[in-house]
Amino acid sequence: MKGAKTMADIFHAVKVSGNVYWVGAVDWTIRDFHGYTTKRGSTYNAYLILGEKITLVDTVKAPFMGELLARVASVVDPGRIDYIISNHAEMDHTGCLPQVIREVRPDKVFASAMGAKALKEHFRIDREIVPLKDGQELSLGNLNLSFMETRMLHWPDSMFTYLKEDRLLFSQDAFGMHLATSERFADEIDQSILDYEAATYYANILLPYSPLVIKLLDRVGKSGIPIETIAPDHGPVWRTDLARILSHYQTWAEQRPANKAVVLYHTMWHSTEMMARAIEEGLRTGITRVKVMSMDAFHRSDAAYEILGAGALIAGSSTLNNQMLPSMADVLTYLKGLRPRNLMGAAFGSYGWSGEAPDHINGFLADMGVDLVRTPVKARYVPDDDVLESCYELGRTVALKLGEAI
Ligand code: FEO
Repeated sequence: MKGAKTMADIFHAVKVSGNVYWVGAVDWTIRDFHGYTTKRGSTYNAYLILGEKITLVDTVKAPFMGELLARVASVVDPGRIDYIISNHAEMDHTGCLPQVIREVRPDKVFASAMGAKALKEHFRIDREIVPLKDGQELSLGNLNLSFMETRMLHWPDSMFTYLKEDRLLFSQDAFGMHLATSERFADEIDQSILDYEAATYYANILLPYSPLVIKLLDRVGKSGIPIETIAPDHGPVWRTDLARILSHYQTWAEQRPANKAVVLYHTMWHSTEMMARAIEEGLRTGITRVKVMSMDAFHRSDAAYEILGAGALIAGSSTLNNQMLPSMADVLTYLKGLRPRNLMGAAFGSYGWSGEAPDHINGFLADMGVDLVRTPVKARYVPDDDVLESCYELGRTVALKLGEAI
């Protein structure tokens, strides 16, 4: 039909630097990312480098392939793509890679050595994935790329790609956030939203690898490579005040104990809740920020966010059928996997006749390396004044010890 618009007329690429266009997709509706609640959706960022060798950096989640190719087509015929670089094999960035390879037929597809293996294992791709070494360089004719392995940030295959001429770092998951917006640049978005979503992302995705983050920041700092733009695979592109996000990462990775305590609990008939409130009062004798979270009202990823800046974790549950309540098992299992460091704390809870939940929680906290300030506080049926005083004292003890530690 004459004048009918194509997808490429509608879905446009966005220029992010002299030679680079954003050609990703915005996912306004995703609310769960492997267990992490993504209340503001997400983006899957892919980038097109218009060098003499036209290069696509990463792809997008499978259902968004049409959007990716349309954005590419708004700049250049996708069939002219010479190279594809996969910085990270997780399927939010590679879900459509096999089909894109089939449609575009690039001369070469590159990934880290681990990435090449992971892509084969994911998709049984029947063509060579060229493995790149840490520090290797690649010429695009008029432009130059270099690669840095960033194993476990977020997967063993992860790597950074640096475009020398644009001073631009493609950082895949690092420095990203789950945030769907129509704006493509961080400086166009409210700073408090950026800080919250970047911290939530770090707490829920990168926290277990904090020692590696510290080494990576040190390596990037010492390399002296000039970086003017950071282009992650989720959320907005950073083109101003890069020091802010880099400094946040340093702080989050160090996990120094802060003057903040988090109380996580779930209650059956309000007895465990009364204990939580008495603990809160004790904590407040010396701790500036106390967050009390009933796990029927909060999501596990909210708890992870709060713990990122905390020095104490106190957890409690009623006993149900000789176990802790399921919501507590959920959040503790999740937090244990995230491996938070430098926390002190204790367990508490009410029971009727057997009373296993506080001991089970105590075991979880011990496994997480939490410095336990006392044995679990328990209440039979309903806490009396003595039990509530023990709860208050528990809070006070944590406040005192935390005050000494920071
Ligand atoms: Fe955004 Fe680890 O994938």
